[in-house]
Amino acid sequence: MPVPVIIDCDPGHDDVFALWLAAGNPAIDLLGVTTVGGNGRLEHTTHNARVALTVAGVGGVPVAAGADRPLRRELTPAAWIHGENALGGPVLPDPTVPLDERSAVELISDLLAEAAEPVTLIPTGPLTNVATLLEQRPAVREKIKEIIWMGGSTGRGNVRAYAEFNAWADPEAADLVVKAGLPFTMVGLNISHQALITEEVLRSIAAIGNETSAFGVDLLRFFCGAYDAVEGMPEAPLHDPITVALAIDRTVATVRRSRVDVETQGEFTSGATAVDLRGMLGREPNADIAITLDVPKFWQLVRDAVANLK
Ligand code: BDR
Ligand code: CA
Repeated sequence: MPVPVIIDCDPGHDDVFALWLAAGNPAIDLLGVTTVGGNGRLEHTTHNARVALTVAGVGGVPVAAGADRPLRRELTPAAWIHGENALGGPVLPDPTVPLDERSAVELISDLLAEAAEPVTLIPTGPLTNVATLLEQRPAVREKIKEIIWMGGSTGRGNVRAYAEFNAWADPEAADLVVKAGLPFTMVGLNISHQALITEEVLRSIAAIGNETSAFGVDLLRFFCGAYDAVEGMPEAPLHDPITVALAIDRTVATVRRSRVDVETQGEFTSGATAVDLRGMLGREPNADIAITLDVPKFWQLVRDAVANLK
């Protein structure tokens, strides 16, 4: 039986590949997609999610918009990496996938209530929607099988010295979610920087030869150019789809059971994820921390999914 999944995202180049991996892999039943302000403003991330599904020929998956800003902070979109519309590179077609009139919280609640079995929630952006869901609809908890989040880092950050973007954008939301007591996996920069978009990866995705792969290569070339300019990394890391890959096949990465806490106060460390990998604090572990990626298996999953799309 396919794993029922809801993706809460802020597309974003790598978010698009997370959506495609979920839509194109038969082991996943993509129940719905919700959007949040993050890489771009909400109108862009919502438009981009609909574009991503349209390009790939994915119909029948509801898309709903969520929070346009973090719980208690201003939104700072990551235009320096993703461009002004959060999806720089290709010309974006007008989406034919409609926008659901429900809010993200309403859609997720409805999908969870209707689901025959507990559902895997995959956030690939700031955790604003998920935190709001858990606060406003505590009864849905029992229908959440697990949360697999792209965010955080066991080491240094990418937007501040110790803060990864999704954690930094809404640390109060991240704090609330990691403390919620639900099964939680963190896919941080420490593992996502193993999923590098090499020339070989680009060539192999281009060789798939469908519309999705052509659009995807345009996305990846822009993304690699931005990473080169900003971080001196011409082989950019494709962060977000690792979450979906873990939902498909837990052996795609090793994980370490650990305590993670989110810094919400620090003058220089707000948004840092303090991951106590060595158990030095003696606190109860609350997360599986993804550590090592099976890189060939990961890219094979991505390619196979794209090949199954339009
Ligand atoms: C995360 O932030 C965004 O730029 C990406 O989409 C990813 O979710 C990486 O820090
Ligand atoms: Ca993202």
